[in-house]
Amino acid sequence: MNEKATEAARKRYDRRARQYDLMEALAERLNFGRWRKLLWNKVEGASILEVGVGTGKNFSYYPAGAEMTAIDFSPKMLARARVKAPKEAVSVRLLQMDAQAMEFPDDTFDTVVATFVFCSVPDPLKGLAEVKRVCKPGGKVILLEHVLSSNRSVARFMNFINPIVVRLMGANINRRTVENVARSGLTIEHVTHLSGIFKLIEARKR
Ligand SMILES: C[S@@+](CC[C@H](N)C(=O)[O-])C[C@H]1O[C@@H](n2cnc3c(N)ncnc32)[C@H](O)[C@@H]1O
Repeated sequence: MNEKATEAARKRYDRRARQYDLMEALAERLNFGRWRKLLWNKVEGASILEVGVGTGKNFSYYPAGAEMTAIDFSPKMLARARVKAPKEAVSVRLLQMDAQAMEFPDDTFDTVVATFVFCSVPDPLKGLAEVKRVCKPGGKVILLEHVLSSNRSVARFMNFINPIVVRLMGANINRRTVENVARSGLTIEHVTHLSGIFKLIEARKR
């Protein structure tokens, strides 16, 4: 079942790859850009993993001198990132990999980052368990995510339209990612409530 869901999600992002940057351009200018900057100012250590790199929208925020690795399960999103990296003079190891079954050894990275990813990972708890596994003990996990609204009426509406949004955009709009991070066994250190449903989640592997 999960394999089928993963393949369907991967195909959705392959289909979206060409228009992705254009479709996000306005949100990027309004808010996403400064939220990304906020996130990348909080990374720690030399060895950093970005999960779900997409077309490489975070490249311009990567810390100078860090040893960067980035994964995505969509070959078409990754192809865009591969073109963008040299243009932005970014040194990054780009790998096609499923966040739910990463090929890295345990305790590899000082910081693991993901932006707008755990809304679309088919099994978010499995993905977060993998994030925890590959993060070094004492290492940091930082996520920028949209989550289910805390307003009950809005949440009901989001749950109702979620299947349509998933089919069109690939993203679930009803994920409880803050709770999922806590369930994964990571220790939540801080949640910044950015605007409405958008959260910056900082956690640590104890
Ligand atoms: C909404 S896009 C966000 C891309 C990028 N992080 C950004 O901020 O623009 C979600 C990305 O996560 C990737 N993704 C979703 N599920 C994944 C999984 N299980 N393993 C690896 N990548 C995944 C998708 O292919 C897509 O590139």
